[in-house]
Amino acid sequence: MKIILAPMEGVVDYAMRELLTASGDYDLCVTEFVRVVDQLYRPAHFRKICPELDHGAATRSGTPVRVQLLGQHPGWMAENAAVATHLGSPGIDLNFGCPAKTVNRHKGGAVLLREPETLYRIVRAVREAVPDRLPVSAKMRLGYETPDLALDCAHAIESAGASTLTVHARTKAEGYRPPAHWHIIDDIRRHVSLPVIANGDIWSREDAENCQRISGCKGIMLGRGALCLPNLAAVIRRQDRALPWPGLCDLLVSYATFPRPDKARGYLPSRIKQWLRYLMRQYPEARILFEKIKQLRQLDEITAMLKL
Ligand SMILES: Cc1cc2nc3c(=O)[nH]c(=O)nc-3n(C[C@H](O)[C@H](O)[C@H](O)COP(=O)(O)O)c2cc1C
Repeated sequence: MKIILAPMEGVVDYAMRELLTASGDYDLCVTEFVRVVDQLYRPAHFRKICPELDHGAATRSGTPVRVQLLGQHPGWMAENAAVATHLGSPGIDLNFGCPAKTVNRHKGGAVLLREPETLYRIVRAVREAVPDRLPVSAKMRLGYETPDLALDCAHAIESAGASTLTVHARTKAEGYRPPAHWHIIDDIRRHVSLPVIANGDIWSREDAENCQRISGCKGIMLGRGALCLPNLAAVIRRQDRALPWPGLCDLLVSYATFPRPDKARGYLPSRIKQWLRYLMRQYPEARILFEKIKQLRQLDEITAMLKL
């Protein structure tokens, strides 16, 4: 079984990838998206989003980290893909699922699911720009408003040369509302021959088993569930127990004190609060801690509270 840590912009950053993959239970991580409009990014931009590029493009546990690109212009996507792989990214992932209005207005992310032909051209161009030995993967939702074009999109992605396809089993219009339609992943999987990874609403071991059974997929991708239960991959893979609360506090402190450039520390108070909001789903203690720190603005004060 393959377990992949989902890309989550503004949430699953370098530090989070490092902490969540420390036990070695993930097979792969995907970075937050690099948004490509009409420019070729300098290496520093890729390194900012994927600092792992300076360490063999893997987290310390050895989990490979693949750069994700989001954009609509095949040419610019291809050129940026070439740079990212030249810097060491072990492949490229393409984002065809982002629901954000600003991104969709500029024809990036999920809106492209209305145009299988454009998906084909993007994947094809990136495939040609990336060395043959490295995978080009794609991640899609079921569609924009409806799943009507899901099979066409999957077929376009496959015939353009993608090596795997992750399907987040909701349309853009459905946002993150449950349920995820795992049975439609099964329709897609039967329609193509490339490996399909199932994603959406896997919060527990039982969900993982149900998702695999219904979708027919061996590989799964964990997003919010991995934030709510930071050892979810081990719970699924090795039947581990849920990480107890004291261990979780240590993890929060590690996140708060993770070495980062100074300018990247400013957003940490809100990121810690955001993580606590996810943790509330699994840990009642997280709500109590959140109430204690919600008015605090300084990282030092928050870290001190986490240590108590
Ligand atoms: C805050 C947030 C940020 C996300 N950022 C990305 C992203 O950068 N790239 C991407 O392909 N998907 C992104 N996603 C979608 C997730 O990768 C995943 O497909 C989705 O959350 C469904 O999986 P889940 O139900 O396990 O969370 C994001 C989701 C959330 C909630």
